[in-house]
Amino acid sequence: MRARLAMTKNPPDVTRQFYYEDVPGYMTEVYDWAYVDPRNARLLDRNLVVRILLFFNDQRMMRAYLEQIEPGMKVWQVAHVYGDLVSRVAAKVGSAGRFDLTDVTPVQIEHANHKLASFPQAQVIRSDAAMHRGDCRYDLICSFFLLHEVPDSEKRAIVDNMLDQVPEEGTAFFVDYHGPAAWQPIGWLLRWVNRWLEPFAEALWKHDIREYAARADDFVWTKRTIFGGVYQLVTVKRKK
Ligand SMILES: C[S@@+](CC[C@H](N)C(=O)[O-])C[C@H]1O[C@@H](n2cnc3c(N)ncnc32)[C@H](O)[C@@H]1O
Repeated sequence: MRARLAMTKNPPDVTRQFYYEDVPGYMTEVYDWAYVDPRNARLLDRNLVVRILLFFNDQRMMRAYLEQIEPGMKVWQVAHVYGDLVSRVAAKVGSAGRFDLTDVTPVQIEHANHKLASFPQAQVIRSDAAMHRGDCRYDLICSFFLLHEVPDSEKRAIVDNMLDQVPEEGTAFFVDYHGPAAWQPIGWLLRWVNRWLEPFAEALWKHDIREYAARADDFVWTKRTIFGGVYQLVTVKRKK
């Protein structure tokens, strides 16, 4: 009887433990509900969720990323994104290209593996974006809404690690939040959301992404903002 009770009690805990193993503290403390807890992640991983979170600007920003990809390119995306973005990237690099996708949480790795199973050019790697070292020269390295979710020290480490791996002709591309213009009413809504859910986001309202780079002057930075300053798209190329 005892053994049977133990058997029925243990599996859910053990399974749950699997999803929390080696996940950074800021993820379990702040983003458990979104990217760590497997039940929630399953519910949220949809295009519609991304569309609503980004106030219908999702396709515009994804296009800006996808338009930079040509067949045969080697692309590293530093973190998973809900919905079909990762499979669109894998399809765009094509069978002659390569798509490396990293993420830190087991459930996001699971989702990515599922979405990318039919693309042999794609590999999903469980790694912190601040630590991953590619074994090839990437043509494009993209952070799509990762920086606002990590503490400032992690922002610095991620930006530096990405830039370290940008070759001479390569590009780093950051898509993220930015300080809204005074007239943009969404700014007030986001201020409220940030207080409750996104404690690391407003740093990007006050600081340019280039301020997080140790060797910013070795690169050419081009920033464009959209939706009344709510979002920024930053292209970074190595100076010749
Ligand atoms: C790209 S961001 C948010 C994107 C957007 N909100 C969406 O629709 O998914 C979320 C991902 O970043 C991952 N993540 C957080 N910290 C990370 C890190 N240091 N390295 C790699 N991935 C990280 C999370 O596990 C999560 O899958």
